[in-house]
Amino acid sequence: MQKDLGNYRKSYEKSALMEDSISNNPMQLFKTWFHEVEQSDGVDEPNAMTVSTIGLDGFPKSRVVLLKRFNHEGFIFYTNYTSEKGKAIAANPNICISFFWPNMERQVIIKGKAEKVAENLSDGYFESRPKGSQLGALVSNQSSVIASRDVLEQELKTLEATYKNKEVPRPDHWGGYLVRPISIEFWQGRPNRLHDRIRFTLQEDWDWKMERLAP
Ligand SMILES: Cc1cc2nc3c(=O)[nH]c(=O)nc-3n(C[C@H](O)[C@H](O)[C@H](O)COP(=O)(O)O)c2cc1C
Repeated sequence: MQKDLGNYRKSYEKSALMEDSISNNPMQLFKTWFHEVEQSDGVDEPNAMTVSTIGLDGFPKSRVVLLKRFNHEGFIFYTNYTSEKGKAIAANPNICISFFWPNMERQVIIKGKAEKVAENLSDGYFESRPKGSQLGALVSNQSSVIASRDVLEQELKTLEATYKNKEVPRPDHWGGYLVRPISIEFWQGRPNRLHDRIRFTLQEDWDWKMERLAP
């Protein structure tokens, strides 16, 4: 069985990324790009990002999660701390997150170190979630093998009854990670595969070094 995909070919022509017209602070540039994506048509979840970790088995693994906040410190997402990614991060906090916004012909690749956010931040975000999502976090021992879907549905029913008139407490195993970036690369598709790539690398004095990379 095979399928030849050699004819998938697209010229990227929407925009350009030039040193003299961008911020020299990558977090500021990320904010600008994110805003432009939000304003554009054709991206359902601009905050969906791929998170790659180095697993306990030595293999990298990538999965999509939702970015829930970013600021000058970094990028925050929420998950289960005992999931496969949680265990990977506990052993090796060096991770990579990336965004692909096809309608803008843009990609951003961020390398950084992940750390758990303060408990009160996780509490605040957990409280803001709909009750169904809160109970889902309680029910799911994320990444563990389960016998069937019924197991989840039954557990959810039990918990719905338990918390009918009560607030759902945030489980200890659920919370946020802050990814503090050490390098951020911006990629803008250009014609003839001569794409623009600008990489910012954090220096010892906390300044960012800006470099252009060959496409
Ligand atoms: C669009 C989308 C958004 C997702 N958002 C999250 C999220 O914010 N947090 C999360 O833990 N998993 C999220 N997931 C599920 C993850 O991709 C993944 O299945 C889960 O976190 C378990 O990953 P792990 O077993 O590698 O730890 C999302 C999946 C998709 C497709």
